[in-house]
Amino acid sequence: MITTVTLAPALDKTIRISNFSSGKVNRVEAVQFDAGGKGINVSKNLNAWGVAARACGILGGANGAKIKALLEKDQIVHDFVYTDDDTRINIKITDPVNRATTDINESAAAVSDEVLKAVFDRVASRLGQGNVVVLAGRVPGGVSPRIYADWIAALKRLGAHVFLDAEGELLSQGAKEKPALIKANKKEFEDMLGYKVADEKEMIFAARNAVRQGIKTLVVSLGEQGAMFFNEQEAYRAPALKVPVNSTVGAGDAMMAAMCFGTAKGLSFMDTCKFAMAASAAAIMQTGTQAVSKDMVENLLDEVRLEAIK
Ligand SMILES: Nc1ncnc2c1ncn2[C@@H]1O[C@H](COP(=O)(O)OP(=O)(O)OP(=O)(O)O)[C@@H](O)[C@H]1O
Ligand SMILES: [Mg+2]
Repeated sequence: MITTVTLAPALDKTIRISNFSSGKVNRVEAVQFDAGGKGINVSKNLNAWGVAARACGILGGANGAKIKALLEKDQIVHDFVYTDDDTRINIKITDPVNRATTDINESAAAVSDEVLKAVFDRVASRLGQGNVVVLAGRVPGGVSPRIYADWIAALKRLGAHVFLDAEGELLSQGAKEKPALIKANKKEFEDMLGYKVADEKEMIFAARNAVRQGIKTLVVSLGEQGAMFFNEQEAYRAPALKVPVNSTVGAGDAMMAAMCFGTAKGLSFMDTCKFAMAASAAAIMQTGTQAVSKDMVENLLDEVRLEAIK
């Protein structure tokens, strides 16, 4: 069983308005609601690929209830802690004429230490030896940036493998506790290192060093330039697939889901990395953060080129 954790989920409200303009009256053409948040996105993909995953975290108020209903519609296993404070809404205004998206993101309501503890207990409650726990995304304001670090240490003591996707101090502190896997884009990788890397050679050197020091798998994603994958024995570089880009939102989450998929299915490291490249390419061909279908990923697998890093 894989457990995903989303401490600051959002109800994504996508509104379509042709020729959207600020300071004017705009007519809405269509509205769509999606359950949003990095851990939830990972769960959605795993569910679509036939891998059992339990989505945990915090939901609140009527917006939280709406997310719960959306998860249930997709038959996604969930085990959230509920509060009275409304889960935030993130509005995305898509303008098909000008091909632009405007994001209006609320901040997540503050949460108490009791609620955080209740989430941790829920995550820990059904963990088996070697189970994967995905900690992904930002946390509500006021929560300690050490939270992922503390949870990684505690979850490791329970025998779990923690996969981390975070930024800033959440990542740099978390990395010190040596999670089993880190997925970082270039900027996040630099947050983790505490310095900017000058070129690819320096990046590879730093990544190998991080793996030598105990992070078993490291994925550094480079957007349209592809990604690099490192574990204790192997290292690969892959150029991004050439696919039509509709929205790059959720590409990183599809990649994280693929790393979980490879682990759950016992794929080789090479096949897992290939799956990650295909899954992220499939994600950017879609407009939203809906799950990527397994067929779509499998159709792209042949196009993935992995090159061993010497
Ligand atoms: N423009 C693009 N063209 C082709 N592939 C892309 C593009 N952008 C992203 N990808 C694919 O998606 C992967 C992850 O993208 P990216 O490095 O942007 O992750 P991220 O910054 O974590 O994204 P997210 O917003 O989901 O957190 C890349 O390694 C690549 O395989
Ligand atoms: Mg990301």
